[in-house]
Amino acid sequence: MTGKVALVTGAGMGIGEAIVQKLASEGASILIADFNVDAGKKVTAALQSSGTKAEFVQADVTKREDWDRVVEAAKKTFGRVDILVNNAGTAYEAENSLTVSEKNFDKVFSVNVKSIFHSVQAVFPLMISGGGGSVVNISSIAALRPRGKLVWYNASKAAVSNATKALAHEFGPDGIRVNAVCPVLVPTQLANNFVPTFENTPEGRAKAATLFQIPLGRLTTTEDVANMVCWLSSDESSFITGTDNNVDGGRSI
Ligand SMILES: NC(=O)c1ccc[n+]([C@@H]2O[C@H](COP(=O)([O-])OP(=O)(O)OC[C@H]3O[C@@H](n4cnc5c(N)ncnc54)[C@H](O)[C@@H]3O)[C@@H](O)[C@H]2O)c1
Repeated sequence: MTGKVALVTGAGMGIGEAIVQKLASEGASILIADFNVDAGKKVTAALQSSGTKAEFVQADVTKREDWDRVVEAAKKTFGRVDILVNNAGTAYEAENSLTVSEKNFDKVFSVNVKSIFHSVQAVFPLMISGGGGSVVNISSIAALRPRGKLVWYNASKAAVSNATKALAHEFGPDGIRVNAVCPVLVPTQLANNFVPTFENTPEGRAKAATLFQIPLGRLTTTEDVANMVCWLSSDESSFITGTDNNVDGGRSI
């Protein structure tokens, strides 16, 4: 990863934080875009103190003007973007689909899907001018094996996985690879939406793994996701594009 520049959205905490730590540990420079200023700055400072060239830009991924500021920062500080990880995402508390609000529907499609629409038009031209790159979209096993109560979250992730394939097809000739990563439950703050009574303790995680019928008997860790993202970002996966990569301990079998 030495010499590569990675732009990661939603890296102020959770899965995104683990992704930037992994990419930085392999030598990449990091640009974090997150709307949570305190969290984003804290993660950026930790990377800088361990010797990584890192920068933070406060951005809401649903807004095109914020993407334009992120790209300006990328050009100014790093001159290029080799890796784009569309990680920022949101959900709503599992709920009967007869009552889920229109606001929550709009929220999941805006943060999870529209963000990727903007990322293409804002970031891809810079990647193409730099000779290509690797894009990793954080989807979910919910895209492939949906369950009730989170219908519109699942559908937004299905859109992420579908767009991933079509983008890979369209931009392959430009040297851009586009892949998706599909975790099952990861114990971050978002997990409380998926399992209302979720407790992030060894017992709570084991209970959730049983509930989700995961053959390998545990939940996805943030590091499991980061390792897959790192491989998909690296030249070791140079012939891999348009794929969903399940990081789910066999849940989707
Ligand atoms: N946690 C899980 O069980 C799980 C499972 C499968 C997929 N995912 C996906 O992984 C990704 C990361 O989830 P997580 O569990 O780390 O969540 P998290 O809530 O712990 O972290 C999300 C981060 O994204 C940022 N963010 C949210 N909305 C944003 C916006 N509009 N603009 C900029 N930044 C924004 C937040 O500030 C936060 O730093 C999401 O796309 C999520 O859907 C999570």
